[in-house]
Amino acid sequence: MEILVTGGLGFIGSHTSVELQLAGHKVVIIDDCSNASESVLDGITAVTGIQPEFVKMDLRDKGAVRAFFEKHPDLGGVIHFAAFKAVGESVEKPLDYYENNLGSLVYLLQELTARQKARFIFSSSCTVYGQADTLPITEDAPVKPAESPYGNTKQVGEEIIRDTCRVNPALQAISLRYFNPIGAHPSATIGELPLGVPQNLVPFITQTAAGLRKELSVFGDDYPTADGTCIRDYIHVVDLARAHVVAMERLLAGKNSANYEVFNVGTGTGSSVMEVIQSFERVTGKALNYKVVARRPGDVVAAYADTSKAREVLGWQAQSTLDEAMRSAWAWEQKIRGL
Ligand code: UD1
Repeated sequence: MEILVTGGLGFIGSHTSVELQLAGHKVVIIDDCSNASESVLDGITAVTGIQPEFVKMDLRDKGAVRAFFEKHPDLGGVIHFAAFKAVGESVEKPLDYYENNLGSLVYLLQELTARQKARFIFSSSCTVYGQADTLPITEDAPVKPAESPYGNTKQVGEEIIRDTCRVNPALQAISLRYFNPIGAHPSATIGELPLGVPQNLVPFITQTAAGLRKELSVFGDDYPTADGTCIRDYIHVVDLARAHVVAMERLLAGKNSANYEVFNVGTGTGSSVMEVIQSFERVTGKALNYKVVARRPGDVVAAYADTSKAREVLGWQAQSTLDEAMRSAWAWEQKIRGL
């Protein structure tokens, strides 16, 4: 089946495009290259031996979205990654985030609901849970008020899909709530390429070890956790990519039990910032330069997934360990820096 992957040159989108192709699907990528390089296409092609169709396009252009769908009447489904994702920037530029993240979603759904049958997978985030009252976090945990416009676009995005599914029985949709994706393809052919100073922990660690950053700031060690640092559920990006393939195949096979479903995608294991640093040091044999600084505003203390729904309903679970993910992240950093 031909699957449209929006944002398919980005970090998660590129790994998902690879896994879709390896599973035998035909991939067409839309990306505006605002936060990704066209050369990622060569990386995807190198891993799979198949060049996906690529359309450079801004999904805020409603006319272009319509024209694309007219040219692709046989699309089997859409996996929608294309979105802005910097939390801090979203506070500075809320309208850019609402326009891009929600405008493009609406235009895609308008096209899909005009079809006889449509399957749609949405990139959501565990950020919708905020600081959950109980851990691990199940899909039934309440959605908490968003801490940022970025987080709000994920919450509202889910609501838009739910409301649309309610009145469009032909639309089959799944939201995947990702925990913290890290790592890179084991071939070190594709990986994360953050623009400027990385905001996320793992690229900051690998860039520090590569000599691009002086030291990692650990944001707070006075949290109520065993070592005082925050806890997250770090999932290897290839595991996360495979969850998209499984979810899409569920929709293609008509095995979904409702026309809108939500799944957590994590490992189920929480790791502290210090444990991530230790894992990096263990697998690379390198000492990481870091210092503890003040807490980062907006950080939750601990978040990790209850993965039973994905395991029981999708038949999917993460395979890679934190060490494997850190090793792959470092191999990728070394490759792109020529180390
Ligand atoms: C962050 C976003 C979240 C978004 C997710 C997408 C914030 C507050 N949250 O999640 O909304 O969905 O990315 O990937 O930005 N850390 C350090 N030093 C650093 C960087 C991070 O100590 O230089 C710590 C953080 O305090 C946190 C952990 O590492 O405890 C993970 O941070 P990060 O990678 O930014 O992920 P989240 O905060 O979980």
